[in-house]
Amino acid sequence: MTDMLDLTRVTADVGATIKPGPMVTAPPDRAVTDDVLKNVAEGAGINGPLLADLLVAMAIHENTSINMYRALRSYTLNPMLHSAFSSFEQDALEAVGIYTELGQELGVPKYYISPAGRMTEGLNSHMVMSLLASGSADAVTADMKAVEMVMLGANMCVANTMLLAELAEEVDDDHVKGLLMDAVGKLIGPQRHHLEWAIDTRRTMAMTMLQHPVGHKLLTFAENVVAKVKGVAP
Ligand SMILES: [Fe+2]
Repeated sequence: MTDMLDLTRVTADVGATIKPGPMVTAPPDRAVTDDVLKNVAEGAGINGPLLADLLVAMAIHENTSINMYRALRSYTLNPMLHSAFSSFEQDALEAVGIYTELGQELGVPKYYISPAGRMTEGLNSHMVMSLLASGSADAVTADMKAVEMVMLGANMCVANTMLLAELAEEVDDDHVKGLLMDAVGKLIGPQRHHLEWAIDTRRTMAMTMLQHPVGHKLLTFAENVVAKVKGVAP
């Protein structure tokens, strides 16, 4: 598994290995096959290669969330959102560490990047790229989109952890079950908090805008939204 606490993106120059695919080739010393991954979570009756690919993709989702929170933090002018994004960035960093540790304990090779992980990087970076369109919107609208990005990203975080929780229920091997449950216990709290915060904040912002009389100055309107969002601060 990757040492992603220290690395923003695991690429060839830092030793990434990958499973060759229909459009991906890798030199022999960088190629990982299902045969190499078959011992992941050995004895637990799980498809080891698939679990390795999923865990790497889950870690990468959290890793790219760090980038997303950094980008959102630099875009917003709203101090309440700024502080929420900073705190969520720390949680995402911790989540990467939890996934990294879990993967290594289950036998996922260090610096292995799964095809599912690379596609997760693509998906999440396109979401952040949508900030390029923020020049076409006022500050409050851009902030709404930022909160929606958190909502979409946090949904995936929660779904990933719930998948691990379900897997833990099914596994007979006590050691593997314990590792999975331990990770789930650490991950789920902050992830649920991010999701609930995003849903509440989006609703508050939207309701404020919807109830704002047409013709009022945008500044008063933005101040109103900031004041309301204070009520759902992290
Ligand atoms: Fe997350």
